[in-house]
Amino acid sequence: MGLRAGFLGTTMLGALLLAGTALPAWAQTTFRVAVGDAAGSAQAELGQAFAKELEERTNGEYKAELFLNGQLGDEQATVNDISMGLLDMSIVAINNITPFSPTVGLLTLPYVIRSVDDAEKLTQGEIGQELIDNTVRDAGARIIGWTYTGCRVLTNSKKPVKTLDDLKGLVIRVPKNEIMISSYNAWGINPTPMAWSETFTALQQGVVDGQDNPYLTVNAMKFYEVQKYITDICYVFSIEPLIVSESIFQGLDPKVQEEVLAAGKAATQHSAQFLRDSEASIKESLVKEHGMEIDEPADDEKAWIDAATQKVWPEHYDSIGGKEKLDAALKVLGRSS
Ligand code: MLT
Repeated sequence: MGLRAGFLGTTMLGALLLAGTALPAWAQTTFRVAVGDAAGSAQAELGQAFAKELEERTNGEYKAELFLNGQLGDEQATVNDISMGLLDMSIVAINNITPFSPTVGLLTLPYVIRSVDDAEKLTQGEIGQELIDNTVRDAGARIIGWTYTGCRVLTNSKKPVKTLDDLKGLVIRVPKNEIMISSYNAWGINPTPMAWSETFTALQQGVVDGQDNPYLTVNAMKFYEVQKYITDICYVFSIEPLIVSESIFQGLDPKVQEEVLAAGKAATQHSAQFLRDSEASIKESLVKEHGMEIDEPADDEKAWIDAATQKVWPEHYDSIGGKEKLDAALKVLGRSS
């Protein structure tokens, strides 16, 4: 049986590895899966679907246990742990992988992916496979499933935002991601980069006024308790891969690897369906049950799109592997740059 972290805590595993001690077989039955978001989130849905599939496919020999709400550390830290083989699996917003493997930034360039159809086309074809290979190479992390969480919308506690002028004066939290920071710079403000695990409290205490995330996340994380206004900017589509530590994956029997990949694929399909089935009703309940107000960006969002794409795309051609990578993605999506 191959090497897996299983039930072993990070400290104990580290000690065993340092001592060169072989891991006992009893420690190798359950994968620990870090999940940044709460129960009911798109991340949790994907994780549960994966766990169910894996258990069924391996007749209960292999299981996956989810640790929700960032119990195993903030999302970016879990990517680091995965890289080092200290954690089995994690489900993270893709913007947390970009610092480790910059080419996945292609999926967070503003106004490239605008729907779940677009997200499926880019992640499930040749482009997705290349990004998986790059992430294995750069970060020691293998993407085995994709959570499709929806377009990121802007929320804030202060005022309706429709124009770029309306943004002025607001303190907006963004992930620690250069592409997203640069998008807000293009719109004329300096956002506040902050770990996901700190975001709710920062919104609650008024350290920041707003943030962006998909409707599903706004709902699952109960942001409606601390945010009032939504602007449907849909500038980035939130993709949150399930990653496995490559060293742990390579330690598995090839047959088990196949089942892990198949379970990830089935969970990905479940995620797309979950989004398609639930986004509209969640959006409606944010307004009707939780009193949020949703606005569209003014003038068909042209000013938002032009400012972000003209500044951010060229800035990141090098990090995504060249302009041709973006051109190829746009071609797959049936658009031109
Ligand atoms: C972020 O904004 O950091 C992520 O999108 C949060 C998440 O994992 O849902």
